[in-house]
Amino acid sequence: MTTIFPKDFLWGGATAASQVEGGWNEGGKGLDTQDVKPQFSYLTREQKNDWKYKQMTVEKFENGKKSNDVSLYPFRFGSDQYHRYEEDIKLFAELGLKIYRLSISWARIFPNGDDEQPNQEGIEYYKNVFKLCKENNIKVFVTILHYAIPVHLVDEYGGWKNRKLVDFYVKYAKVLFENFKDDVDYWLPFNEINATRFNPYNGGGLIKEREEHYDQAVYQCLHHQFLANSQTIKLAKEMGVKAPIGCMIARFCHYPGTPNPADNLVQLHDEQYTNWFYTDVMARGFYPEYMNRYFEENNIKIEMKESDLELLNEYTVDFISFSYYFTQVSTADKEWEKTDGNLVIANKNPYLESSEWGWQKDPTGLRITLNQMYDRYRKPLFIAENGLGAEDILEEDNSIHDNYRIDYLKSHFEAMGESIKDGVNLIGYTMWGIIDLVSCGSIEMSKRYGVIYVDADDEGNGTFDRYKKDSFYWYKDVIETNGAKL
Ligand code: BG6
Repeated sequence: MTTIFPKDFLWGGATAASQVEGGWNEGGKGLDTQDVKPQFSYLTREQKNDWKYKQMTVEKFENGKKSNDVSLYPFRFGSDQYHRYEEDIKLFAELGLKIYRLSISWARIFPNGDDEQPNQEGIEYYKNVFKLCKENNIKVFVTILHYAIPVHLVDEYGGWKNRKLVDFYVKYAKVLFENFKDDVDYWLPFNEINATRFNPYNGGGLIKEREEHYDQAVYQCLHHQFLANSQTIKLAKEMGVKAPIGCMIARFCHYPGTPNPADNLVQLHDEQYTNWFYTDVMARGFYPEYMNRYFEENNIKIEMKESDLELLNEYTVDFISFSYYFTQVSTADKEWEKTDGNLVIANKNPYLESSEWGWQKDPTGLRITLNQMYDRYRKPLFIAENGLGAEDILEEDNSIHDNYRIDYLKSHFEAMGESIKDGVNLIGYTMWGIIDLVSCGSIEMSKRYGVIYVDADDEGNGTFDRYKKDSFYWYKDVIETNGAKL
């Protein structure tokens, strides 16, 4: 069978510590910002899927309302990978995964973020995970920070708007390099760095009601994260870390609503403000001029030292990764019909079908995205997240028939193949939520992404036993044939 995928294409799966691990207060782990995120359990499914309510709930957690009722937090239990990683890695091996993308929980290594010494138990945990991956020929792709920030860094320092966070983060990265330099194959300093703009609580540890000039604080956080990114690359070079270091954004793909030049201008700005800005800084090494104009016109003054710009310029990333879930419409028409999307409320596209959560499915947009990104940067590309959140049914015989997920993945793999034919240097794909985990946006278990089912409900009840879905066998075949059989 012939395939268009390169010989060493990295077929993989992705998770994040706060959504999959559980064990929120075990092994010396400190409390992080995801552990204290409210569940919105008072909302019905319809309300959760309604963008107006979503906006309301986003405001609610940005207002820092938290409760101490442990039962309210599925995040704290995740999929219990902390206790079941051996079983999970065995399943990944059976699936034939070439690479596993996971994040390290900062609060497992530095419980408060500013501790003098790292927590050895946390280091041991990840050592064991990586060792098992290696024994099973699974490469390791580590996200150093996937949203979960030690709560103490938010309470004591105000989150990423405080420049001290750069030092705490780099100290954390140093401990990771010291301990895992030989275990990790790809490093990613930040998950979806642009989430700091779209969900400043998740990305930057910002609490809206505590900020006088919220937008200013958002971009200040981002500047510090860009610095932390470059300093981490610098540190890796100094410490002889061989594995490539990449950046990641949540990629938003926009189509103009009409041929009206006004809509096209909105589309240009949407692309610049939501996508290009971030990858321009981290891959090209400078603040683009269009952003400087944006800052001026919006009265945003980022505090920076002159040497910051030199650092950003000198230490850029080796590869670019992104998450891709949906596309949306850019329009000057404020009344345009809305729908939900990853991190944003999106304008609806009448030509696309949506997932049960309102995210507009669009494989063609993935091909467009890959082409645009490769044209601009000429660096290797990695799809760090993509997948379908859907409600699955566990049958009496423990089978799960998720043809809708297979259809979604197949169409996106075909689009990847077309991009490779277009000449795009795509090196890997880590399917989001390879094993069911707690949804980050709607904070529920029933929005499932995995090819592996986890028997747990929205309150964290259940056996947490794992079952293979139909998509498991299908993805296994795809990997085995390197994409020849879709
Ligand atoms: C990405 C995040 O934005 O989207 C993941 O990096 C998240 O953490 C994923 O889980 C899917 O979003 P959701 O809200 O369906 O979990």
